[in-house]
Order: sequence, then C-alpha cells, then structure tokens
Amino acid sequence: MVNDSMGAHQATARAHPNIALIKYWGNLDHELRLPANSSLSMTLGDLETRTTVHFDERLDADEILIDDVPAAHAASQRVRMHLDLIRRMAGIETYAFVESKSNFPSGAGIASSASAFAALTLAAATACDLHLDARTLSRLARRGSGSASRSMFGGFVVWHTGESDAESYAEAIAGKEYWPLLDLIAVVEAGHKAVGSTEGHRLAETSPLQKARVADTPRRFAICSHAILKRDFSTLAMIVEQDSNMMHAVMMTSEPALLYWSPSTIEIMKAVTRLRSEGLDVCYTVDAGPNVHCICTPGHAVAVSEKLRKVPGVCEILKSHPGDGAVIIAS
Ligand code: DP6
Repeated sequence: MVNDSMGAHQATARAHPNIALIKYWGNLDHELRLPANSSLSMTLGDLETRTTVHFDERLDADEILIDDVPAAHAASQRVRMHLDLIRRMAGIETYAFVESKSNFPSGAGIASSASAFAALTLAAATACDLHLDARTLSRLARRGSGSASRSMFGGFVVWHTGESDAESYAEAIAGKEYWPLLDLIAVVEAGHKAVGSTEGHRLAETSPLQKARVADTPRRFAICSHAILKRDFSTLAMIVEQDSNMMHAVMMTSEPALLYWSPSTIEIMKAVTRLRSEGLDVCYTVDAGPNVHCICTPGHAVAVSEKLRKVPGVCEILKSHPGDGAVIIAS
C-alpha cells in the first residue's frame, strides 16, 4: 500500500491463538474485561492471524476486511471500538484500513478472537507510533478479547485476574521449547451456531456453580503451573480435564443453559480417557464450542491422531505445537 504524506503509519503483526489449560469464564468487570479468575494457556504456533493496520487521513471511516471479506456489523463495531481505545492513547483521530487473515478456517470453530485482537493491538499501536511494553500491550489486547491478552506471549502463559485495569495482564511462565506438547484439535461436524464467549461470560454468574469454580481456581492454577514446570503429564492431564469439565458444568447450569457439546464431543472425550488408560499421554479440553483439543506428548501424537480420526463425527484434525507471542512482521 502507498504511504501517505504523514509517513508510513502502517504496520503488520502476526499473532497465534491459544488453548486455555485453566479456563477464563466470567468477568468481574465486563466493560474492562477483568476476569473472574486467573487462567493459563499454551500459545498455538501453527495457527496464526496476520493483521495490517494503516491509519490514513484520506479515510472518512474505518474499513475492515476479515479473510478478504468486509467485516460483518458486529465484528466491525468491536474492531472500531478497539481502534478508538488505541487512537485515544495516541491522541489521534485518523481512521484506519484494517486487513486481517487467519490460516485456520473460521468455519472450523476455532476461536480467532485471541489471535485477532493480539495482532490488531500490536499492529495498531505500532502504526500510530505508540511504544508500549509487552505488559501494556497485553492489557490493551485484553480490552478487545480477554484471551487475546495471553496471545501476546509465546509458550505457556498465565493471565492474572487483577482488580483493576493495571493489575490484569498476562506473562509467560515457560517458553515454547520448555515442553514441546502438541494440541490435536478434533474438529467435529458443525451443529447450530453457538452462543459466543462474550455473551457466555455474562451468563456465568447466573450459575450457582460459578462461585465454587472461581473459589477453587487458585488450587487448579497452582497444580497446573507446577505440572507444566515439572513436565508432569499425568498431573497436567488430571487438572486440565477437571478444569474444562468445571467450566462446562457452569455453562450447562447457567440461565439460559449453554450446552456446547455435540454427541461427537462426548465420544472424543471418552476415547481420550480410554487412550490414556492404555498408556498414551493425552488429555482433552473443550472451549465454547463442540471441538475437542487433545493435548499430547510429541512421542504419542501419531498414535493419538490415528485413533481420533476413527471416532465417528470427527471431520478434521488440526495440529499445533507451542508457538511465539505476537510480533511485528512489517512496518
Ligand atoms: C472458553 O476471550 O473469547 O475459550 O473476552 O468475550 O472475547 P471475550 O471472550 P474470549 O473467552 C474465551 C473463553 C474460553 C476459555 C479461555 O480461552 O480461557
């Protein structure tokens, strides 16, 4: 793209989605996206979003393209609000052209808001000459999508709940080489369109189980982070599955109830438990959709993948290694 007379004011960033091993579900403050509990994730290096932001004085509105198509109303409103935050920080009013592309199919039901808002935050901040440190970028990305705060970093990442905007940020606890686990994402036949996470977070507090889940989080969080630091797969498997089940118990008991699982989701969860009892290092975790993330050790990935392929209803298996945090790839 041609630069305008004010200089480049353009940057392209790359960011990866992440899979939460200890889940974020529910907010203390919806507006600021201060989460009800701390969470912990692995950044997924093989899946990515690349976003270019170009602030251009000639524009009279923001223009947003997602995967080559103009963004739908709700998505473009969310992007505009995020750009407004960044414009306010930079003291500018210039509109932007935003182009975002992901290498994973949006129809596969893999949440793209984490990689999308991490890439958007870094590209927009860089394009308007804000020189922000990683913690500030993580706080800013959180305002667009909670899980995006974690995608600012690579490897294994914690997001501290915090009682204020300044206290709620993510940081890495181990790099991507520390433990080369794999995420095999068993994509199941898409059912009806699920309720999005943003709406789901608002329903969390209507479940009588949410208080107990949140109160127990420090225990699960400590067990999970120690298991990662000690590379202890059986403890990791136990706590990751329990955490996912606890979040889904809250979802299922909200008013109205949210049931994200399809029959195939349950088949895969059962298959994973069986494979682990037969000696394979694999555990499951499920986000706000029917797909199952199967976390396994590299030596067992081929065997696990072959078994998952045979589970009725599995239409595709995406694979990812741990990856890097968000980076600028052009400016
Ligand atoms: C189930 O970060 O997608 O994947 O802040 O509204 O964008 P918003 O929600 P989002 O929520 C993620 C929910 C989850 C669990 C997790 O990733 O921790």
